[in-house]
Amino acid sequence: MLPVGRKVVVSSIAPDPLAAIEQASLVAMPAPDPAQLSPRDVIIAIASASVGWVDLLMMSGQYQHAAKPPYTPGLEYAGTIAWAGADAAIAVGERVLVDPFLAGPRSLGSYQGSGGFATYAVAPIEAVHRIPGALTFDEACNLLGNYETAYHCLVTRGRVQAGETVLVHGASGSVGLAAVHIAKLLGATVIATGRSRAKLELVAAQGADHIVTTDTPLRDSIKALTGGRGVDVVYDGVGGDLSVESLRCVRFGARYLIVGWAATPFVTRTQANVLPTNLIMMKGLDVLGCPTAISTAHDPSSRAPRLEQILAWAGAGKIHPLVSRRYALTEFADALRAKWHGETVGGIVLHPAG
Ligand SMILES: NC(=O)c1ccc[n+]([C@@H]2O[C@H](COP(=O)([O-])OP(=O)(O)OC[C@H]3O[C@@H](n4cnc5c(N)ncnc54)[C@H](OP(=O)(O)O)[C@@H]3O)[C@@H](O)[C@H]2O)c1
Repeated sequence: MLPVGRKVVVSSIAPDPLAAIEQASLVAMPAPDPAQLSPRDVIIAIASASVGWVDLLMMSGQYQHAAKPPYTPGLEYAGTIAWAGADAAIAVGERVLVDPFLAGPRSLGSYQGSGGFATYAVAPIEAVHRIPGALTFDEACNLLGNYETAYHCLVTRGRVQAGETVLVHGASGSVGLAAVHIAKLLGATVIATGRSRAKLELVAAQGADHIVTTDTPLRDSIKALTGGRGVDVVYDGVGGDLSVESLRCVRFGARYLIVGWAATPFVTRTQANVLPTNLIMMKGLDVLGCPTAISTAHDPSSRAPRLEQILAWAGAGKIHPLVSRRYALTEFADALRAKWHGETVGGIVLHPAG
């Protein structure tokens, strides 16, 4: 018999992320009852849950996919198997990470309410992967969402080749840092941008070849770093003015990857980002929208090779998601606020058991 735990509950969608954090509550959580579960289900005792930007968007209705309240946030989590159904071929005590497309708030079926900001979660066996290589729980819960996004954008959509130069905006963030790591694995040169030199120095220590703060004219810096030519690929997770400025930093025929818009998150109530068609046309650009989950829903066959490569890289020690801050579950509000205010480089995690 598993002991009573705790979970964070989102009871209604709030008007903005800071209000959403205030509205969320921490409540007691009876352990899931195996008698109510499918033989293909497992109960996971959660060790680490990633605190995601997308969690904040979802809690405030700014995300394309809405979990139905009441639900527990935490798109990605990792822990140990505490119970396994008769048809779930995995042993109690195994260290696992859970696929956010198949369980938790980002999934579409009946496991949507069971996120990682909790002592326990229930997931179907097909959502469970043994943690590859020497990854810690903290690293494991920052693997799939970030690196699948970076892979989908850079490899599937961007077709990045060794020797090319990739400009990564928001490089200190979770999907930005994953893009720095994957672009380097692909043999590209990486120019990382951000608002804070101190954060960018950490990004350089993570592999970026050049760092550029966005408080100076970007075009001059990028042209100087590329011998006047411009970059081959832009990975844009920031949006706003930076997107438009980026179009002046590219070579003719470059690929421009629209990854996200961290600088303009309120898409339901403000004008969406707008790109000038004259620059796109005169530079012969390929502008590519890169919604990983939506693209995967349209073409499920795109997932297996991506997942296989990321788990293989992680297993071989070539990918180490950076986790900069750790919080107890009782501090979930502080953790979410730190994410919203961009206080860290890479990931933030909650420790439900700590
Ligand atoms: N395409 C996809 O499938 C996909 C998947 C996941 C996420 N996303 C999107 O990708 C974007 C980044 O996600 P993430 O998880 O990496 O978020 P994150 O960890 O919070 O990182 C966002 C980064 O953007 C930079 N930024 C620049 N201007 C900003 C501003 N005004 N406000 C906040 N941040 C600003 C920050 O870096 P500095 O502080 O260094 O400037 C921050 O580190 C989001 O829009 C998210 O929705 C897309």
